[in-house]
Amino acid sequence: MRPSKLKTRIFLDGADPGETRSLLGLLGFLDGQTTNPTLVSKNPAARARLAQGRRFDEGELLALYRGVVREVSGLLPAGSVSVEVTADANTPAEDMLRQGRAMSGWIPNAHIKFPTCAEGLKAAQQAVREGLRVNLTLCFSQQQAAAVYAATRGAKKGQVFVSPFVGRLDDRGQDGMGLVSNILRLYAPGDGHVEVLTASVRSVEHLLRALRLGSDIVTAPEVVLAEWARRGQPLPSPSDAYANPGLSPMPYEGVDLAQDWRGFDIRHELTDKGMEKFSADWADLIVAGREKAAS
Ligand code: E4P
Repeated sequence: MRPSKLKTRIFLDGADPGETRSLLGLLGFLDGQTTNPTLVSKNPAARARLAQGRRFDEGELLALYRGVVREVSGLLPAGSVSVEVTADANTPAEDMLRQGRAMSGWIPNAHIKFPTCAEGLKAAQQAVREGLRVNLTLCFSQQQAAAVYAATRGAKKGQVFVSPFVGRLDDRGQDGMGLVSNILRLYAPGDGHVEVLTASVRSVEHLLRALRLGSDIVTAPEVVLAEWARRGQPLPSPSDAYANPGLSPMPYEGVDLAQDWRGFDIRHELTDKGMEKFSADWADLIVAGREKAAS
């Protein structure tokens, strides 16, 4: 059952509806789910097909992704399901927007994930104007989070998520949870139109720190949520200290949220790297043109 004092919404990070079912059984609730191209590449049906030496054409792969998302949406009809566009450093906003519009027609409760780069923000700004729900992913800095806020000003409550990636910052020695804390502080005087979705969670400790900070949402892989369930779904107590020995703190930057989003420093090498990896994992599932012609 959902702990009565739990305010943060809990999402599953994965692209296997079997995990959604199993966690609904274990936890008794789930508030939503996030997916991405790498997670789609780990989907059991995709793996089984690849194991037979058969890759997908683009249409078949999108049909698989749509099927996964529809099944998850059916399991979590009152929740939100994040669906990610495929984009690399050369993908223009128009292309991301075209993908996002199509994906938002797959299910009634989609949040479309756009990368937090200039083209992704342009696409998200237009998507919000068209009434789509968006999730700005691969966020690694306060300046990027400020740009998300500024680019989506005027959105309705619940329409926009920003996803700071804590685990990937920890991996390079920075305290990712410090970024979540800074974004929550940055947004606190604002109008609440962007919700903070703590992502790239690697442990129950990350999950508990996100709850303690008051993150609006946290998404975690099946293994982390199953461990949380095994421990009895604890909530953090005010006396819990979550020191991160060895990780360098993320200093808070005073940023003026009122400025135009293009004025923020939105480049981050982890965003570029993340887009490259998502695109590569997606492309690995697809039959190359020459290979297809030969088959
Ligand atoms: C969710 O929206 C993110 O795509 C996911 O949490 C990334 O996690 P990772 O850094 O473990 O790949």
